[in-house]
Formats: sequence, structure tokens, C-alpha cells
Amino acid sequence: MLLLYTSFQALSPLSAPLLVFCLLAQSLWHRAPPHKVPLRSPVVLVFRLRAPVVNSQTGPQSSTVTAFSSSASISSVASLSSTSIQPTATPQSPIPGVFPATDPSNPPSVQDTEVPDFAPAWSTAHQKAQAQIANYTLEELVTVVTGIDALDLVGRCVGNIADINDWPGLCLNDGPLGVRLADYITAFPPGINTASTFNRSLIRTRGLFMGTEFKGKGVNVALGPMMNMLRVPEAGRNFEGFGADPFLSGEAAYETVLGMQAGGVQACAKHFIDNEQETNRMTSSSDVDDRTQHEIYAQPFLRSVMAGVSAVMCSYNLINDTHACQNNLSMNGILKEEFGFQGHILYINLLRLKNTDWGATHSTLSATAGLDMTMPGGDTGVAGLNTFFGDTLVEFVNNGTIPLSRVQDMAQRVLASWYFLHQDSPSYPAVNFNANAPGDEATNEHINVEDDHFTVVLDIGRASIVLLKNVGNALPLVKPRSILLAGSDAGLALIGPNEFPNAVGDDGILAIGGGSGCPFTIFAFQPLEAIQIRARKDRTTVSWILDDFNLARAGNMAIGTSAALVFVNADSAEGSDRTNLTTHDDAEQLILAVAAQNNNTIVVTHSVGPLIVDSWIEHPNITGVLWAGVSSSETGNAITDVLYGAFNPSGRLPYTIAKNITDYPAQVSTLLEIPYSEGLDIDYRWFDAKNITPRYEFGFGMSYTMFAYSDLSIEAVNDTDNAQADLISNWEAGNASPSGLGSSTALWLHRPAFQVSFNVQNTGGVAGGEIPQLYIQMPPSAGEPPSILRGFSDVFLEPGETQTVTIFLTRHALSIWDVVSQGWIKPQGTMTVQVGASSRDFRLTGVIPL
Ligand SMILES: *[C@@H]1O[C@H](CO)[C@@H](O)[C@H](O)[C@H]1NC(C)=O
Ligand SMILES: *[C@@H]1O[C@H](CO)[C@@H](O)[C@H](O)[C@H]1NC(C)=O
Ligand SMILES: *[C@@H]1O[C@H](CO)[C@@H](O)[C@H](O)[C@H]1NC(C)=O
Ligand SMILES: *[C@@H]1O[C@H](CO)[C@@H](O)[C@H](O)[C@H]1NC(C)=O
Ligand SMILES: *[C@@H]1O[C@H](CO)[C@@H](O)[C@H](O)[C@H]1NC(C)=O
Ligand SMILES: *[C@@H]1O[C@H](CO)[C@@H](O)[C@H](O)[C@H]1NC(C)=O
Ligand SMILES: *[C@@H]1O[C@H](CO)[C@@H](O)[C@H](O)[C@H]1NC(C)=O
Ligand SMILES: *[C@@H]1O[C@H](CO)[C@@H](O)[C@H](O)[C@H]1NC(C)=O
Ligand SMILES: *[C@@H]1O[C@H](CO)[C@@H](O)[C@H](O)[C@H]1NC(C)=O
Ligand SMILES: *[C@@H]1O[C@H](CO)[C@@H](O)[C@H](O)[C@H]1NC(C)=O
Repeated sequence: MLLLYTSFQALSPLSAPLLVFCLLAQSLWHRAPPHKVPLRSPVVLVFRLRAPVVNSQTGPQSSTVTAFSSSASISSVASLSSTSIQPTATPQSPIPGVFPATDPSNPPSVQDTEVPDFAPAWSTAHQKAQAQIANYTLEELVTVVTGIDALDLVGRCVGNIADINDWPGLCLNDGPLGVRLADYITAFPPGINTASTFNRSLIRTRGLFMGTEFKGKGVNVALGPMMNMLRVPEAGRNFEGFGADPFLSGEAAYETVLGMQAGGVQACAKHFIDNEQETNRMTSSSDVDDRTQHEIYAQPFLRSVMAGVSAVMCSYNLINDTHACQNNLSMNGILKEEFGFQGHILYINLLRLKNTDWGATHSTLSATAGLDMTMPGGDTGVAGLNTFFGDTLVEFVNNGTIPLSRVQDMAQRVLASWYFLHQDSPSYPAVNFNANAPGDEATNEHINVEDDHFTVVLDIGRASIVLLKNVGNALPLVKPRSILLAGSDAGLALIGPNEFPNAVGDDGILAIGGGSGCPFTIFAFQPLEAIQIRARKDRTTVSWILDDFNLARAGNMAIGTSAALVFVNADSAEGSDRTNLTTHDDAEQLILAVAAQNNNTIVVTHSVGPLIVDSWIEHPNITGVLWAGVSSSETGNAITDVLYGAFNPSGRLPYTIAKNITDYPAQVSTLLEIPYSEGLDIDYRWFDAKNITPRYEFGFGMSYTMFAYSDLSIEAVNDTDNAQADLISNWEAGNASPSGLGSSTALWLHRPAFQVSFNVQNTGGVAGGEIPQLYIQMPPSAGEPPSILRGFSDVFLEPGETQTVTIFLTRHALSIWDVVSQGWIKPQGTMTVQVGASSRDFRLTGVIPL
């Protein structure tokens, strides 16, 4: 398995010690890893409930307030340094728009617009954690925050924390799309397709099923979801994330975290932060201004914190020349203080070890910047390859460099997350697979956690397909006499995707991208197979050519067929960015060869992200285009259902498709200082601001039916909550929200403030789903892009049916980040609301009554 890691390594700058490490690792690989079964005996806790000290319900608190008076047996706990941001305890009070005292196992339903209040559950969890560490020695505290499996590969998970007394330790495992390096699991659709559904129910269900599978395998912390922003269209990991808009990404992160944690596992929001390309990802600095950081890149993390996320993974890149995992401003400042994050921040090294190249910058002092745990840890005996926590952290505490209270806070956060998810329950499964030795029979129990989770894979597969072009009712197909399937992507290759290390390879149907984000075991229903099953019903003649290069033959075969379907793809993986925005095997040539001979050519793309389609999109013989993304195992079935109208497409683009690569605001940069000079104007915001016409705009997608919008009304949500009246009127008066502990996630800022209602009618002939989108236009003084997404919904309508759709707006949604006062502020002037079917197809306009 270490070989898999070395395949990444080849893609990043090498250092001599790393080579040494890899050679060592490979030679050790054949050694059977020690069999270590963590104990899962019940932990009996004795603790005294304490009255919470502060009330964070209504807004910011001073970060110097200690939430819990300590009963720790270790002295010196009193002096909390400012770099130890302590979680707060919060009592529950009934506030309109707030879901009362929420336990992560029982979040509000998707339909419920109330904001969950996790503060009481966090408070209880922290008290239990504090009681547990009360008699821990310094070494034991450090054990809780340091991984164990350096070269020895001790432990069965990608990351492992050792057991202490009755406490069983922790299993951390990849990844954002399902349990990696295990069998009998589901390979869930990547984030990009999940976002493309714009359907909260599907996003939540995927999260729930994923959480259930991780728990079933005994994982404590699932290393996902991934929520970086698609700033750069070629970025290699874009498919793992939720697209190019911070609101969409934030809501997808929110629903995913709520779902995963309801399933029982700790979700880990990653990668914090500004990790927007793979090129030089460990050596380049993302230079992002404070406002852009707050409004764009941090938004999905803010929503994750509001969903009660238990863990956050810091990223490999630097921010303003300081490593993200050592960045006090982003970790202590934004995440822990401003967002009030109460879980732990962890760092997982790609090569499972400290890299000496980073030694100078990645250091034990990361702990004082807010880092709570390192993985994998362990001491190797090789100079420069020892963990920077472990014994080194003990020394730093003993010589007074790092306060003991910080290490207590670190351990308390790690353990509180475990209690928060009820992982202390005796029924929480023990680890029953071995990511470090998937072939080892002694440590892999082959527990099947799949259930019928393929259903959500198929549901998301269908709902994520975007219909981009449909001329003369080319689609759906109606009993065609004959069809041709052209392109390697239509069928299976000679070897399947699992044969590629980490799925990094492109041969035949592309169902998923590659890298540590991808589960090891998937199957892939190919379009060729699914279409043939359907063709048998219709008595359609099916021919196929899976060769991307025999253009003459493909053209000949296309002559006279009722429909010629061309399947093309574009792949990417962790560790490297795409080198172009065109297709694998330059299959544009195949498209053109087929279209030259057939006036009903339909193109289907499997793509990890944007493609430039301008060399073929306007070809008069190309009558249909389906954008299928990478939706994992069921993609052939999903495409077939949409092609034949068994499912009416409702997917929307989660990014812009430009006419020319140079139209995008940012490209992969080879600079070591990457200026985010486009600021707030990423993706569609840039095209709007610069008046560039895209080929297909963000939010675009067609249907086999039509929808009409009418009757927009906007009214303030009646507020009877006097406790927060001051904060609200302060904001309404145009003053910035106060800053302090939890100030950016304060409930008053995120409760429904305005209610936008309108009608949507299906005016076409078939049932279908519509995705109404709400964009805000801020007054010019705000300095915002022309339109910003601030709401979406999904509505399924029978022909002729009308439904009223309601979207709530929060005060946060109507604010900008004020750098000077470090708070959220309502811009002066009129704020317009536009509702429609894409970021450029507005149907209704109104004004916020502020
Ligand atoms: C702490 O308490 C646990 C449980 O009572 C016990 O097993 C352990 O030995 C104690 N540790 C120390 C360092 O006293
Ligand atoms: C990076 O520098 C910019 C410009 O000085 C500043 O606005 C921003 O807050 C800094 N971010 C971090 C994390 O240091
Ligand atoms: C680190 O961040 C915290 C929280 O914002 C702040 O109080 C502290 O002063 C910062 N420390 C340093 C060294 O900048
Ligand atoms: C504390 O110990 C660490 C680790 O041995 C060492 O690097 C550091 O220089 C020491 N600091 C002081 C002030 O002694
Ligand atoms: C674009 O990249 C793909 C994947 O690496 C490659 O197959 C294709 O040949 C490239 N096209 C061009 C024009 O460079
Ligand atoms: C479109 O297809 C027809 C065959 O159906 C072919 O004769 C014609 O040349 C094609 N048009 C173009 C622009 O290639
Ligand atoms: C497409 O070509 C077929 C013959 O292959 C012809 O019958 C049909 O009219 C053409 N359609 C259009 C829209 O040109
Ligand atoms: C894209 O734009 C660049 C710069 O304006 C231009 O040189 C290039 O020809 C364009 N490419 C295409 C395919 O139109
Ligand atoms: C708020 O209260 C007014 C007066 O009682 C009522 O007319 C209005 O419909 C209410 N608004 C909402 C959004 O409930
Ligand atoms: C969103 O997904 C849910 C659950 O599968 C489904 O009931 C609903 O109809 C979907 N919405 C649309 C517009 O298709």
C-alpha cells in the first residue's frame, strides 16, 4: 500500500529523506503489521455537572473566559494562554428559528429551517472529556494527540491513536467518498456530483449513509467531507469538493456533516484552508485577503461548524507564507475563536511522516497556533523523520515553551469529539478492517456495511446529470431504430478502475477521480451495458466502437444510425492538476468525426470539472449534450435513465463552463506565492463582473419540461425574541456584528430573517424537478460581485402543477465581512433579490424590506 503513496510522491518535489523513508517503508511492507485490536469496553465516568459560565446563545464572548473550572490533578491549568481557545458552555433558551438543544444523532430534518443549537451537547461532551483527562499524565495527554503508526504501520486505520487505560483509542480513516481501503463498502458519488443535484435531501442522505458505513467499520473519524472551492478549473481534487460557489459548497458541507454525524462518525471538514491546486501544494503560499477568506474560502467551514463538525483537517499549503497547520490567524483566530469551533484540528501527513523539508516551518509550536493532533506520528530513528508531537511535545511542555493547559485543551478537544458522537457507547463497533493490509485475513473481518446504499448512488447519479443541449427534442430517446455508442468511455476497459493505484488512471468508463479521496472498491455500470438492456426492450440495434482513435471507422459506423452517442471523459487525481481543459485522448476529434456523419449526434461527458467545449458545441449535427460528471458506480444506469426519459434531468452546473480557458479568473500557478488577486470574483462572479459571456453559466441545466415563475413576495420573519433584539437592531442600523468567541456563528446572525416566497409551475408536458435559485444584488457601495447565490430549493412538479417555494434569508446572507471592525455588516443601500433558473436566467425580482 505504501507503493500507492509513492505514486503521489513522484508527483511532488522529492527530498532525500523522503526517498529513504519510502525505501524503508517498502522494505517493511512485507512484514506483517502487528495485530492490534483496540479495546471497546465501556468507560465509566464520574463527573459533576457544572453550571455553564457563559451564554454564547446571543453572540460573542470574551475568549479569555474559562468555560469549565478544572478539577485536573495536574497543576498550572489555571493560566490559559491566549492561544488556548476554550470551548464555551451554553444553556438552552427557546429562541425562534433555533432547533433546541441538538444532539448530533438527531439533527433537524432537511425540511426544517431551524438552526441547530449544538452548544449543550458540546458542553456535556467537554465535561466528560475533562473528567477523563483529570488524572492523565503529560505523557498520556500527548498520547491522545499523537498518531502511533509511523513506519511500523501499527494500527489498522490510515491514522491511529493509542488506547489509554480503558479508553480504546481512535481510528481515523479516508475519505470523503466512503471508507477507503476496505471491502463491502459503497463508493459514494464525489462531491462535485452531489453539489450538482442542488438537492439537500440527497446530500443529507448520502452523508447519513456514509456515516453509517464508517461507524459500521469501527472508524471514529472519517476524513471528509472535502470543501475546497474550485478556484482553479484544472485543480486535481475539484471533483471531491462541492463546486465553485461558497454558498452551495457551504450548504452541501452543512448537510453532509449533519448526515455523517447522525450516522455516528465524526466528520472532518477539510482542507483548512486555501488549498486550491495540487501543483506545489506543499510548498506554495496562498495569499488571500481577509474579506475573501471570510466570504469565500471559510464559508463551507463556517457551515460545518454550525453543523457541529467534530474535526477539521488543516491543509498542506501555506497561507501568507505560514503553513496552514501552523497558522494562528486561521486556526485559532477564525476557526476556534470567531467560529467557536469546539472539536479538534488535525494534521495528516501524506507520507505518514514528518517531512524534513517542512521541519523549519512545521513544528511542535503548531500546537500554540491551534493544531490539536498530528498523524501518523511515531519516531522512526531516521534523523528528521520523527513526529513533532510525541516526546518532542513533552519536552516543549517540560521546558515551559508550551503551556500544559494547551496540551490539556488539545486532549480535551479530541476526547470531547468522541463523547459528542457517543463513541463511548459499548455498542460502538470496534475496528474490523485493516487499511494498512487490506489483504490480511487475520485483521479484515469483511463486515458488510453497504446495505442498500447504492440507491442514493443511483439517485445522485441521475439527479446530478446536467442536460446542456437538446435540439429538436433529440432527447429523450424514443425507441430509436438503431444507435451507435462511440468512445472508450462508453464501456469497460480491459482492466477495471481498482487496478490503478488509488484509481489514478483513465481507461474505459470514468466513474470517479483518483487519489486518497477515493474508496478502493467500486464497480461501475457502463453505459454500453445499461443501454443494451434498454435497447432489448425497444428492439433497437446497438453498435459500438470503444476505440477513441479510429475516427474513420467511427464516422462510418455513424452513418445512418438513428442516434450516435459519443462518450468522452476527463479525469484528475490528488497530487496533480489537469494540464488542459479538454478531453482524455483528445476525444474532441472523435466527436467531430461522428458529427460529420450523423445529424443526431449526442455527446455524453464524464468529467471531473469544467471542459472547454467550443470546438464542437455549436456543430449543427450535435443535438444533445449530457454532462454526467463522475457519479461513481451507478453512472451507466443513471445516464441511461436520463437518455430515455425515465428520469427527467434536473442537475445544475456547480461551476461555469467558459468559452475559452483564458476567460477563467485563475489558472494553476507555478508561483510559490500565489496571489488570489481575483478576490471575491471567482467563477460566475468573475464572468458577471467582467461582462464575459460564458458558454454555460453556473446554475444552468435544462429539463424535458418547462417551468414558469410568478408571485414573488418578501417579508421579514416576525421576531419575538427580545434577548437578541439589541444585536439585531445594531446590525440593522448598519453596525458590524461584535467580534468574539463564536461571533460569526451566533444564532441571531443565522436564524431566518426574511422569507422569500414565489410560485413555480410546470408548464410542460412531463413531470420533472426544478431548482429555483436565489441571487442577491448588493448595492454598489458593498463592493460585491454583481450577483451572489444565497438560496436554492428543489421542487418536483407534475405537468400543470404549481407549488409555492419558500427560501429563508439570514442576516449573515445579507452581510459582507468588514475587515476594519472584523464583523459582519449590512451594506448601505437597496438590496435586490432575483430568483430564477440559473445565475443568468432571472425570472423574478424583489427588494429586501430593510
Ligand atoms: C487514572 O484513572 C484510571 C481509572 O481510574 C486508572 O486506571 C489509571 O491508572 C489512572 N492513571 C493515573 C496516572 O493515575
Ligand atoms: C493574509 O494577508 C492578507 C493581506 O495582508 C490579510 O488580509 C489576511 O488576513 C492574511 N491571512 C492570514 C491567514 O494570515
Ligand atoms: C493567536 O490567535 C488568537 C486568537 O485570535 C489571538 O488571541 C492571539 O493573540 C494570537 N497569537 C499570536 C501569537 O498571534
Ligand atoms: C524546549 O525543548 C525543545 C525540544 O527539546 C527545544 O527544541 C527547545 O529549544 C527548548 N526550549 C527551551 C526554551 O529550552
Ligand atoms: C489533455 O489532457 C489529457 C489527459 O492528460 C490528454 O489525454 C490529452 O491528450 C490532452 N490534450 C491536449 C490537447 O494536450
Ligand atoms: C451532418 O450530418 C449529415 C449526415 O446526416 C452530413 O451529411 C452533414 O455533412 C453533416 N453536417 C456537418 C456540418 O458536418
Ligand atoms: C438527418 O438525416 C436523416 C437521414 O440520415 C434525414 O432523414 C433527416 O431529415 C435529417 N434531419 C435533419 C434535421 O436534417
Ligand atoms: C482563447 O483566448 C486567447 C486569448 O484571447 C486566444 O489567443 C485563443 O485563440 C482563444 N482560444 C480559442 C480556442 O478561441
Ligand atoms: C408577521 O406578522 C404579521 C402581522 O401579524 C403577519 O401579517 C405576517 O404574515 C407575519 N410574517 C411572517 C413571515 O410570518
Ligand atoms: C430531491 O430528492 C428527494 C429525495 O430523493 C426527492 O424526493 C425530490 O423529488 C428531489 N427533488 C427534485 C427536484 O427532484
